[in-house]
Amino acid sequence: MDVNRVRKDFPLYQQASPPIYLDSACQSLRPRQVIEAMDEYYCAFPACGGRSVHRLATEVSVRMDRAREEIAAFVGARDPECVVFTKSATESLNTVAKGLRLRKGERVITTDMEHNSNHVPWVLLARERGIRRGIVPFSALEQGDLEPLKEELEKGARLVSVVHTNNVDGSTIPLEAVVELAHDRGALVMADGCQTAPHSSLALDRTDVDLYAWSMHKMLGPSGMGALYGKREVLEGIEPLVTGGGAVAITSYDSAELLPVPERFEAGLQNFAGIIGSGAAVRYLREVGMEEIVEHEHRLNALATEGLSAIEGLSILGPPDPRRRGGILSFNLRGMLPHDVAMILDEIASVLIRSGMHCVHPYFAARGMEGCARASLYLYNTEEEMRQFVEAVGYIAERFMG
Ligand code: ALA
Repeated sequence: MDVNRVRKDFPLYQQASPPIYLDSACQSLRPRQVIEAMDEYYCAFPACGGRSVHRLATEVSVRMDRAREEIAAFVGARDPECVVFTKSATESLNTVAKGLRLRKGERVITTDMEHNSNHVPWVLLARERGIRRGIVPFSALEQGDLEPLKEELEKGARLVSVVHTNNVDGSTIPLEAVVELAHDRGALVMADGCQTAPHSSLALDRTDVDLYAWSMHKMLGPSGMGALYGKREVLEGIEPLVTGGGAVAITSYDSAELLPVPERFEAGLQNFAGIIGSGAAVRYLREVGMEEIVEHEHRLNALATEGLSAIEGLSILGPPDPRRRGGILSFNLRGMLPHDVAMILDEIASVLIRSGMHCVHPYFAARGMEGCARASLYLYNTEEEMRQFVEAVGYIAERFMG
């Protein structure tokens, strides 16, 4: 992969002194191809897809279908109709949590490292409907130890809802094994793939996962776009979160019949530019090549890990082997608050990272930690940026650490 060529596509790098952007796990940069695809919608066919029959509207419908097909192919889903557009992974996860109509006493199993989007819905459902929750250590699953999950499944569960790659340290669980075990015990599996979809070649059909949620803004796509994949029969059993125009067949004063998937989940005017931009994003990633991207991230993460490991008083979160942390490198400096580290890095070296608890509050609170500083990479970062990042962290450690 030619990173210098890739960088030419990203407007941020055309600035005279671009910052070192290491916050892609939060939101990635967007190449001009994605921005142009969205502009084209607004300039050339700024109409409403799926309703009107005039030529502009038809163009929007055709482009939406194409985007859905490209996104489905990108995540390894044979049937594009099994990919639902949402406004975020949070909305995808909530659609399932609310739409499964879980009853009092039914159980949901998660890991101890879930983002609030796969945590808060279950807390509220426990309060409102009396559902029960089992929690297994993410680190056990990551290391291939399925015993804790097996024990939780023995108590019965309707759903196992787990983060595929966690956003704190970037490590990944063996989803296929989790799915096999859960299916053996009669439970459905949903995975939060926000940090996996941008950084791997998914094969959702083969994995046999029932439901999979992710967002587009972490994989070169626009903000305000997410997706939910589901097996057709599973999606058909889920009540949509929002209903209305575009999601129903002819209604009468006292009846409404939902359209088939995916339309039943896509009520109201859609984010047409966002959908078309999302299609452009996966096209861009495919053209660069996911294998090359993953290899590039591993190389950079190994370089930065080696550099940071030499700093006395610095601790790295997660598995020591950078290949098990994808594009994420989270760390703490002894006696320093993560937000202070992030602000100083920005101030002294224009290095932009994320700090804090990364919306995974219970995990940090249970360990008495204030959070961590998190650098996250993507295809546009360079070895030189890694060197500058390591140098800046080394300077902070020397100057400010207790
Ligand atoms: N979940 C996103 C992150 O980890 C927002 O930064």
